[in-house]
Amino acid sequence: MGVALLGSFLILSLFLKSNLGQQQEQSIPNSDEFFVSQFFEKMGMNSSKSSHLYNLSSSVCSWEVVFCDSKQQNVIGLVAPNLGLTGPIPDNTIGKLKKLQFLDLNSNQITDFSSDFWSLISLKSLNLSNNKFSVNLPTNIGNFGSLEKLDLSFNNFTGDFPDSISSLAALQVLNLNRNRFDSVIPLGITNCHSLTSVDLSMNSFHGSLPKGFDFSFPKLKSLNLGGNLISGRGSDFSKMVSLNYLNISKNLFKGSVVEIFQGPLEMIDLSSNHFDGHISHVNFNPSFDWSHLIHLDLSDNKISGMFFSNLSKAFNLKHLNLGKNRFLKQRFINVDELHTLEYLNLSKTNIIGQISDRVSKLTHLKTLDLSNNHLVGKIPLLSFKTLINLDLSNNNLTGDIPLKLLQKLPWMERFNFSYNNLTLCDSDISLETLQSAFIGSTNSCPIAANPILFKKKVHEHRGLKLALGLAVSLICLLIGLLLFAFGYRTRTRMWDVKESCKEENVISGPFSFKTDSTTWVADVKVASSVPVVIFEKPLLNFTFSDLLSATSNFNQDTLLAEGRFGPVYHGFLGGAVHVAIKVLVNGSTMTDQEAANELEYLGRIKHPNLVPLMGYCLAGEQRIAIYDYMENGNLHNLLYDLPLGVHVNEDWSTDTWEDQETNENGIRNVGSEALLMTWRFRHMIGLGTARSLAFLHHGCSPPIIHRDVKASSVYLDYNLEPRLSDFGLSKIFGNGASDDMTHGSPGYAPPDDVVTPKSDVYGFGVVLLELITGKKPIGDEYPNDENRKAQDLVSWVRGLVRANCGSQAIDPKIQATGDEGQMVEGLKIGYLCTADAPLKRPSMQQVVGLLKDIEPL
Ligand SMILES: *[C@@H]1O[C@H](CO)[C@@H](O)[C@H](O)[C@H]1NC(C)=O
Ligand SMILES: *[C@@H]1O[C@H](CO)[C@@H](O)[C@H](O)[C@H]1NC(C)=O
Ligand SMILES: *[C@@H]1O[C@H](CO)[C@@H](O)[C@H](O)[C@H]1NC(C)=O
Ligand SMILES: *[C@@H]1O[C@H](CO)[C@@H](O)[C@H](O)[C@H]1NC(C)=O
Ligand SMILES: *[C@@H]1O[C@H](CO)[C@@H](O)[C@H](O)[C@H]1NC(C)=O
Ligand SMILES: *[C@@H]1O[C@H](CO)[C@@H](O)[C@H](O)[C@H]1NC(C)=O
Ligand SMILES: *[C@@H]1O[C@H](CO)[C@@H](O)[C@H](O)[C@H]1NC(C)=O
Ligand SMILES: *[C@@H]1O[C@H](CO)[C@@H](O)[C@H](O)[C@H]1NC(C)=O
Ligand SMILES: *[C@@H]1O[C@H](CO)[C@@H](O)[C@H](O)[C@H]1NC(C)=O
Ligand SMILES: *[C@@H]1O[C@H](CO)[C@@H](O)[C@H](O)[C@H]1NC(C)=O
Repeated sequence: MGVALLGSFLILSLFLKSNLGQQQEQSIPNSDEFFVSQFFEKMGMNSSKSSHLYNLSSSVCSWEVVFCDSKQQNVIGLVAPNLGLTGPIPDNTIGKLKKLQFLDLNSNQITDFSSDFWSLISLKSLNLSNNKFSVNLPTNIGNFGSLEKLDLSFNNFTGDFPDSISSLAALQVLNLNRNRFDSVIPLGITNCHSLTSVDLSMNSFHGSLPKGFDFSFPKLKSLNLGGNLISGRGSDFSKMVSLNYLNISKNLFKGSVVEIFQGPLEMIDLSSNHFDGHISHVNFNPSFDWSHLIHLDLSDNKISGMFFSNLSKAFNLKHLNLGKNRFLKQRFINVDELHTLEYLNLSKTNIIGQISDRVSKLTHLKTLDLSNNHLVGKIPLLSFKTLINLDLSNNNLTGDIPLKLLQKLPWMERFNFSYNNLTLCDSDISLETLQSAFIGSTNSCPIAANPILFKKKVHEHRGLKLALGLAVSLICLLIGLLLFAFGYRTRTRMWDVKESCKEENVISGPFSFKTDSTTWVADVKVASSVPVVIFEKPLLNFTFSDLLSATSNFNQDTLLAEGRFGPVYHGFLGGAVHVAIKVLVNGSTMTDQEAANELEYLGRIKHPNLVPLMGYCLAGEQRIAIYDYMENGNLHNLLYDLPLGVHVNEDWSTDTWEDQETNENGIRNVGSEALLMTWRFRHMIGLGTARSLAFLHHGCSPPIIHRDVKASSVYLDYNLEPRLSDFGLSKIFGNGASDDMTHGSPGYAPPDDVVTPKSDVYGFGVVLLELITGKKPIGDEYPNDENRKAQDLVSWVRGLVRANCGSQAIDPKIQATGDEGQMVEGLKIGYLCTADAPLKRPSMQQVVGLLKDIEPL
């Protein structure tokens, strides 16, 4: 036999070789080689293009796509995926491969079978996945009595699935996923006792499961009926004791799910059906092993009652979705043992109370959806390393979004905090994001994330080069040092000392200690017990007495200004930190607790163009706000050559922060007068101020309205960067009803009936006009005024701009450098901002854009 075979093989080879060179390569008609090469040729392949597939000068058994039996006689396998084979399979090609056992033609463009296809009775495995069949599957499929694997997925097979499947007694794998089969599941399938995996998903199978379906497949491990129209009950699966994977999602199943939970199930997807009833009884299914469970989806049903209590035994669970059901009001699930959880969806499950702190222990969590519940309280810390999808929308959560979480947001795929009572303020969150993920943030007082920390993250994560401006690096350094040195402290108790402070108040006016040193010395013991809260250096237990010593008992010499809210002093807190100390004199209707909350909120608002609130002290009736000291005074003083109003301590040896800062950028608090002669410097002040307001208006939800934008609110820090001060103070320091508070200062007040962000735009417009003209808003001389009608800066400049004579308003002190055109443009921006009608004024975001457009080179 062996010799005969060898002989015929030699003859065949000789025959092939003798034909070479004389005529085109050709194979013996009716050989397997002939059938396969015909198949490729007629299906649009080309021997010269695909010689590696079928090189006619070598034996068929050496072709890459062909597998022969051990005697190299018959083709038993053809594996030709993804070759662009197109159209119906022709007769007299592969249908004639009598010994063919496995045929894999997946991912081609095949549309139909040949009529001789059904004689491939040796087939054990047929893979036609991902082709273009859009025909009925002939009952001839029953011819393949040896078939073990049948994969027809990703086609468009239509109509009935033939009952002749009953003949496929050896069938182990059946995959019909994504076709258009439109029938009941044939009873014949219950003859296929060898099935281990059945996927009928994404078809239009309907009706109920055939009789005996549940106990006909003793080896079945995986069953996917998802995305059909099959009806039935949970008990239909109660005898399938070998299943690991059960997916019946998106069907019409109803009744209780309890009987499904049994055996070694690892993946259960029952989502989008009509299941109802309680699930708590699942706890008592003794045959169900929770520790096997990896994936459980019961979402979008009508399940009622309480969650399972045994869920905590599912310590291999990765995916849990109980969302959109009709559970009773209940508390958060116990996640203590669910260490491996990656996906947790409890959306619309009627949870009350707080989000369990233990969620923070879920170190693999990627998705957390708790939307549409009744959760209250604060957002706990979450596992920020892995989290990429967070939905907390539609709850009653309060407080701020943890800083670490805010910093993480730019790296998350999706987040939603809408419809809560959360507070937020951050310049790095775009307006679009605010409008989509923070809808309905109702709290009036914002919380800030530190934008600089955001940028630092970019640096860490992406390795991007940081190009921060001088001011930014200053803040960065300060905060870095503060954090490094002191860590973080939670809110201090301070209310119990109220009485003693009242006493002080009675004895002497607000901090007029200077006039009566005996009185204040007598008060020291009491006063020293009142804590000073310094947000970022909490371990330094400053007290009121430190404020006293910093200001030499609020000595007149340390008085910086008589501000709108009361006197402002300066001094060195703890002998090192240069601070400005603002004292409230006006009464306020706020309680101490409210004032403290408000001040804590303000303390977290950070922007390179805002004067940071460093801390506060509630000394009885007095509310004291402590700010970073601004070395270079305010814009008002600078513009009108007024003294800074304070003797600047030039001995920096005690002040290490500024020392280091000086090394870094070399700018000192000198030369501002000279700089003021340049348009570039004035433009920088205008732009920085605009940025601070754009941040308050567009980076905070809800927007913060400053209410008192004016030149004397714009301070210049050590680097001569402009910084707006006094934001958010009206609420704490004033009684909000007073005209003064609502309408702004004379010359800066818009003619508005109600205060809106556009009122700030008006005030900013006046500051911009001051910057360019060097004229005060009221009571100054306004030359070149034809009719001498102008009472104030705004009407004067607006008249000139309207007459196209803007250049006549420019401050003669600004050295001519050919920037006149830009300054005239600047006046036009001021013109827009000071429009009578608020609606006609641009938003601060637009103003920033306009000012950037005329940025001096
Ligand atoms: C086969 O390829 C040759 C050369 O590339 C081409 O001339 C011929 O038309 C192709 N035949 C088919 C059926 O595509
Ligand atoms: C076809 O097979 C022959 C013999 O193995 C070989 O010499 C030739 O290079 C092959 N042709 C191509 C195009 O691979
Ligand atoms: C059919 O081929 C596809 C694509 O390679 C593959 O994913 C699938 O597992 C195959 N089917 C069977 C039953 O082997
Ligand atoms: C199935 O038919 C639909 C509708 O005719 C068509 O959009 C889809 O591309 C077809 N799918 C396949 C795999 O042929
Ligand atoms: C269940 O089947 C549906 C429809 O085919 C599919 O979308 C879903 O991903 C499957 N679920 C699991 C857990 O595999
Ligand atoms: C499930 O919980 C019930 C009570 O809630 C308890 O009796 C039962 O033993 C638990 N089952 C397992 C497997 O832990
Ligand atoms: C959570 O489940 C609900 C209900 O099925 C679904 O609508 C929502 O998209 C899921 N959320 C996530 C983040 O997957
Ligand atoms: C939030 O609380 C308010 C007041 O208690 C209540 O009216 C509202 O329904 C709650 N919202 C949610 C989503 O629970
Ligand atoms: C939102 O929270 C504030 C305090 O943080 C509270 O005064 C207010 O009533 C809350 N609003 C709602 C609708 O719960
Ligand atoms: C957040 O949730 C709200 C309310 O469900 C929805 O209107 C909004 O589109 C969601 N935003 C995002 C970004 O998903």
